[in-house]
Amino acid sequence: MHIGCPKEIKPQEFRVGITPIAAQEAVAHGHSVTIETGAGTGAGFSDQDYIAAGATIADTAAEIFASAEMIVKVKEPQSAERKMLREGQILFTYLHLAADRAQTEDLLDSGATCIAYETVTDDRGGLPLLAPMSEVAGRLAPQVGAWTLQKANGGRGVLMGGVPGVGPAKVVVIGGGVVGTQAAKVAAGMGADVTVLDRSLPRLRYLDDVFGGQFKTSYASAGNTMELSQQADLIIGAVLIPGAAAPKLISRAQLAELKPGAALVDVAIDQGGCFETSRATTHEDPIYDVDGIMHYCVANMPGAVARTSTIALGNATMPFMIALANKGWRKACEEDDHLLRGLNVHAGKLTYAAVGKALEIDVLSPVLALKV
Ligand SMILES: NC(=O)c1ccc[n+]([C@@H]2O[C@H](COP(=O)([O-])OP(=O)(O)OC[C@H]3O[C@@H](n4cnc5c(N)ncnc54)[C@H](O)[C@@H]3O)[C@@H](O)[C@H]2O)c1
Repeated sequence: MHIGCPKEIKPQEFRVGITPIAAQEAVAHGHSVTIETGAGTGAGFSDQDYIAAGATIADTAAEIFASAEMIVKVKEPQSAERKMLREGQILFTYLHLAADRAQTEDLLDSGATCIAYETVTDDRGGLPLLAPMSEVAGRLAPQVGAWTLQKANGGRGVLMGGVPGVGPAKVVVIGGGVVGTQAAKVAAGMGADVTVLDRSLPRLRYLDDVFGGQFKTSYASAGNTMELSQQADLIIGAVLIPGAAAPKLISRAQLAELKPGAALVDVAIDQGGCFETSRATTHEDPIYDVDGIMHYCVANMPGAVARTSTIALGNATMPFMIALANKGWRKACEEDDHLLRGLNVHAGKLTYAAVGKALEIDVLSPVLALKV
């Protein structure tokens, strides 16, 4: 199969859909790979790295869209890219269609077969192509939180690990899923005094069994959440209720009960945020002050570490990309129900129920789509 990877054009997106390692793997399976010139630069990969991996370089995205049987990207295709998609072409990337009618309609019009990273599943009920980005955001959260706590940034001026004779920062992580676990591990590694709150007892049991010596756990009742937050220097919001906006766990009025200069890092901002005073910020201007509490609410945290994020995402997408290239999308999806769940659009039909419900568009079952 001929696989193409254009340079990402969404503002502030430095990741790239195919790493040189993934290109090399595809070439080793007998496929050809073309990368748009400069596509890997933001993640630290040169055209030469791709050529060394056996890929070819194209000057424009138009050449890639015109020639490739499968397009592999990171972000949802932008309007100009959508116009270049065609019937029979496979698009493998993040789509997030439920909140994006314009994109959905364009993809339906294109006739392409679109497989969304975010809806591919795994045997443990997880989302294997979302998890790497949650891992990145989780591990980044204490790092940006530590920076936010510095005096020059409006923070309390508390060092995460303390020093001999001075106690460490108190860190509260609300939500002990993928983001929260990674955040707690890194915060504990920095020497902070960490407590993770969750509403799931099985999850708390797991965290206590595996990380009992490194951080504490607490049930996330409203009372516990507030009591621990009042003592915290840094609070990391990492909750998720699948398919719903994040619950607001600290209100504006409650900010007055927190320590002056405390830092809130709201990783759940991409689902609306879990603090009432959260609003999405960018890497250029990541923090702001509400009532003396510093907020960090960057919606695309993994973009700050584009190289790590690209490699992590590439590791997760590569087996699926290779399966799609080796078998064609139909056979690959027929043989792997988890990949079939990634199918969102095929030949002018929507094939993902939740998107159809959100946008009130008729849906063809993905199993029937295999026969179209
Ligand atoms: N800002 C970014 O760049 C970025 C990057 C990746 C993920 N995220 C977001 O981070 C959030 C967490 O993602 P995840 O992958 O860790 O999800 P996850 O499903 O693995 O974990 C979420 C956890 O929150 C818990 N939870 C739900 N409601 C709660 C409540 N009221 N109090 C305490 N715990 C509660 C759940 O039991 C679960 O353990 C999501 O909103 C995700 O979209 C943001």
